Amino acid sequence: MKQPLTASPSARLSGRIRVPGDKSISHRALIMGALATGTTRITGLLEAEDVMATAQAVAALGAEVERSNGAVAVKGQGVGGLRAPPAALDFGNSGTGSRLMLGVVAGHDMQVEFTGDASLRRRPMGRVLAPLAAMGLQTDADEDHATLPLVVRGTCDLLPIVYDLPVPSAQVKSAVLLAGLHAPGRTTVVEPVAARDHTERMLIYFGAEISVEDRGAGARAVTVGGDAELHGASIAVPGDPSSAAFMIAASLISPGSDIVVEGVLLNPTRSGFIQTLREMGASVEVLDRRDEGGEPVGDLRVRTSALKGVRVPPDRAPTMIDEYPVLACLAAFAEGETRMEGLAELKVKESDRLAATVAGLAACGVSARIEGDDLIVAGRGEVKGGGLVETHMDHRIAMAFLTLGLGARAPVTVDDTSMIATSFPDFTKLMTKLGAQFA
Ligand code: S3P
Repeated sequence: MKQPLTASPSARLSGRIRVPGDKSISHRALIMGALATGTTRITGLLEAEDVMATAQAVAALGAEVERSNGAVAVKGQGVGGLRAPPAALDFGNSGTGSRLMLGVVAGHDMQVEFTGDASLRRRPMGRVLAPLAAMGLQTDADEDHATLPLVVRGTCDLLPIVYDLPVPSAQVKSAVLLAGLHAPGRTTVVEPVAARDHTERMLIYFGAEISVEDRGAGARAVTVGGDAELHGASIAVPGDPSSAAFMIAASLISPGSDIVVEGVLLNPTRSGFIQTLREMGASVEVLDRRDEGGEPVGDLRVRTSALKGVRVPPDRAPTMIDEYPVLACLAAFAEGETRMEGLAELKVKESDRLAATVAGLAACGVSARIEGDDLIVAGRGEVKGGGLVETHMDHRIAMAFLTLGLGARAPVTVDDTSMIATSFPDFTKLMTKLGAQFA
């Protein structure tokens, strides 16, 4: 059943909060824990539906997952040591869980069915199947149009490959690198622009052989050594910058606000949003920059700011791909036009985020348009609000427009908030703690 919610104009957000653990790192910690020998202890794991689906999948494949003393322990089975699950693996809404696990199953001699919810069943899987099929994964699906549900058969005899990514996708890069752990020899993924690098960082942390070569103009070649051995490790998951983005945005547009978001991941492959906000004139200060578990983190102090429209170049997209809906909402509060370029990938997220964002903005009295793969928002310094926004089973569309409603002149209603549980179950609770008003 749909769960609508209304956000009302709110003044003065204040206080210190900690957002939940990073979703990308949480998935990877569970997956690498399952492939390691020994036990992996994870603190700060994101306990949201997407990550729980991955936890259930690795458990169904034979890696025990247990909660103990505020941490999650994964008993690894070693690279290639997982067993066929008793039933189909259901990844719910999660593109990351399903695509990364296709890379893992590829290296095991077993047949597995992958499925998911209505949103995930619409998303393209050919992008991972193409390189994995070249390595030896078998499927009956037509690679170019493959979607879940999907039956695949892995093999203990994967071939190492060199793969040029046709789309800038960390999920595809990660699926190939995870499969590469099982193949003999070296597997290389060449990416046109650096997408999030948590897989490479965490593989190094677990003891795999990884090398990264700069190919110029932002391109990189990432190589993993095959027949790998991973060793169970302790992982502290930093705060998710894609969740923090909503709190940051809400504070920028709610008059008189001054908040601190603690322990946010500051990995440069995830920091495009903060860079863009600064270019727009936002007051976002990093306090106490430090390293936690191989990743840079810091506390972010954010104060209400007058924003101006900017051009966001296409090569920045991979470093802020999940933040465009909320950035587009913020751009509506800026003075002048914001042009966000090179957003073709937004069309194949949990919803078509380009279309959903433009429609949501229109419902709130904001003029926005799509030109090719670019999204253009006409900022007027203030937003009328008062609209009903359709979320299309997309958690980030729901959270972005609830955030917009906090700064608009009239309340904004989103038609369904149930999907927020896939990434950020405590979203309304934490926003309310800062002073936001929902009904
Ligand atoms: C993710 C990669 C991105 C991102 C998703 C998480 C990951 O997707 O949108 O939310 O954890 O690797 P793509 O790799 O498809 O761009």
